Amino acid sequence: MRTTFVAAALAACVATTSANPAPRAQKRQSQQDPNLDISSNLQNILANTHGSDLYTYPTDLTRGIIPKPIHSHNDYWRDVPFYSALSVGCVSVEADVWLYNETLHVGHEQAALTQSRTFDSLYIQPILSVLQRENPTSLFADEKTHNGVFDASAGQTLYLFVDLKTDGAETFPYVIRALEPLRSAGYLTSYNGTHITEGAVTVIGTGNTPLDQVAPVANRDYFYDANLALLSTTQQNITSDISPIASTQFSRYIGEINGTEFNSTQLATLQDQLAVAKERGIGGRYWDTPAWPVSKRNAVWSELTRAGVALLNADDLPAAAGFTGEW
Ligand SMILES: *[C@@H]1O[C@H](CO)[C@@H](O)[C@H](O)[C@H]1NC(C)=O
Ligand SMILES: *[C@@H]1O[C@H](CO)[C@@H](O)[C@H](O)[C@H]1NC(C)=O
Ligand SMILES: *[C@@H]1O[C@H](CO)[C@@H](O)[C@H](O)[C@H]1NC(C)=O
Ligand SMILES: *[C@@H]1O[C@H](CO)[C@@H](O)[C@H](O)[C@H]1NC(C)=O
Ligand SMILES: *[C@@H]1O[C@H](CO)[C@@H](O)[C@H](O)[C@H]1NC(C)=O
Repeated sequence: MRTTFVAAALAACVATTSANPAPRAQKRQSQQDPNLDISSNLQNILANTHGSDLYTYPTDLTRGIIPKPIHSHNDYWRDVPFYSALSVGCVSVEADVWLYNETLHVGHEQAALTQSRTFDSLYIQPILSVLQRENPTSLFADEKTHNGVFDASAGQTLYLFVDLKTDGAETFPYVIRALEPLRSAGYLTSYNGTHITEGAVTVIGTGNTPLDQVAPVANRDYFYDANLALLSTTQQNITSDISPIASTQFSRYIGEINGTEFNSTQLATLQDQLAVAKERGIGGRYWDTPAWPVSKRNAVWSELTRAGVALLNADDLPAAAGFTGEW
């Protein structure tokens, strides 16, 4: 039953990666079913973010959207990537950023970049807009509220993975600067040298993010995506204060799955990696999990869920939406 459900729900949802282009089949499917993107939740968001104050309830924007431990890979063919992810309840989104002429552009590959699709316009401003909706100033709220993006779970942080595609040392300062609207509004999870204060948005640098611009910084509101597979070796000294979530490439570190079963080595590797992370208070995520055939993809999804990953990578958000009953 579970497997069948997963099969239905996760058609193409699982894991292509932050490093690999999405398979063509997924793109085709997305183009064939444009209406799948327009869930009623997304319609509510789109109808209400641009203008009206006439909410039936001030924080109505994301009402009824149940957050799920799904990481939405930045689908470059989506017009509204953040809102699409939000509408199905993904607690984690990812922006691939490229620095050109002092501006961070968003796109999965260079050919997909345009002047208007920037990190600010596609992520920072939409996230800020939703947070302002969820934290209205009113005569009734004595103090500023710190609700997250999900009305149904106000304490749930939104993970914002920023995948640096251009030179890390040069690009990362621009990312830090780009966060300023969220920072000044008090929405970012921060670290003060001893403690983490959880905020509505937790920023995690990945891709070319330079560790040496994160780890030694005592006061910061950004974190680092460590390599889940290396936590017990070369990244032994990375703590959850640096890396609240660590990710790794499934195909490289777990390997090819024969049929639908992890062999004993693979299962042990998976369990070891997650155990090491858990002991350190670090959540785990795998990318580049098998996408085909469906039976294999689903079996991997189920195994990862059983093993206790913090986030499952997703590409097909409408399919992920159907996963509700599983969480
Ligand atoms: C960067 O700026 C230069 C000079 O203004 C311009 O020629 C070029 O097209 C710009 N490139 C991008 C990607 O915006
Ligand atoms: C960091 O935050 C914690 C919790 O708010 C506080 O107790 C501590 O004094 C802060 N440390 C510094 C160095 O500001
Ligand atoms: C971890 O150890 C490496 C060397 O093994 C060092 O270069 C790095 O700065 C250390 N990182 C932290 C966060 O202590
Ligand atoms: C499990 O599969 C991996 C990857 O194909 C392989 O390297 C390993 O030897 C296998 N282990 C067993 C016990 O079959
Ligand atoms: C894959 O599994 C099948 C069936 O269990 C087995 O016959 C075959 O030898 C396995 N192949 C590899 C490469 O482990």
